[in-house]
Amino acid sequence: MVEDLESVTSINEACLPENYTDVFFIDLYRRYPETFVVAEENGHAVGYIMCRIEVGLSGLGLAGLVKKGHVVSIAVLPEHRRKGVAEALMATAMEGMRQYKAKQCYLEVRVTNEAAVDLYKKLGFEISRTVRGYYADGEDAYVMSRKL
Ligand code: ACO
Ligand code: ZN
Repeated sequence: MVEDLESVTSINEACLPENYTDVFFIDLYRRYPETFVVAEENGHAVGYIMCRIEVGLSGLGLAGLVKKGHVVSIAVLPEHRRKGVAEALMATAMEGMRQYKAKQCYLEVRVTNEAAVDLYKKLGFEISRTVRGYYADGEDAYVMSRKL
């Protein structure tokens, strides 16, 4: 786990401006191990996804409170991109969400992050709304969701 933690934090720092404390990563891994996935190639980590299971209003037409899988962060090292790694990570994490009985999946993404927006659209996500100034630098986020 400690080796994985170092790999995950270094991929996170290489790929995204949103970085977290070790405790944050460890907490997600402890609470939702089925949706914390590390992709490896030849024995070294090239990507990760980590998620949280939440309870809230559906927004996708389901009645009452529903369990939702929230993709907190996903990244793949630049030299390993465009080979289906992120698609595989998303598929595995969504299967994990189903094991936790989540009925839908959502995430936030920068409105200018074309690669990620296209990835999510390819996987059946739709833009639910825009959150103004969601990111620390003031950029807006799309909230994207799909049923599981
Ligand atoms: N331009 C356009 N579409 C793209 C691109 C791109 N550069 N990269 C991926 N896609 C779309 C395509 O539809 C692609 O399917 P195709 O190859 O058949 O056309 C589909 O996504 C699947 O691509 P993968 O190969 O599975 O994606 P990859 O492993 O390259 O990882 C990712 C995509 C995670 C967005 C990667 O570019 C990355 O790490 N970016 C930096 C970090 C980041 O932006 N993470 C997402 C932030 S939002 C969040 O974490 C909730
Ligand atoms: Zn490599």
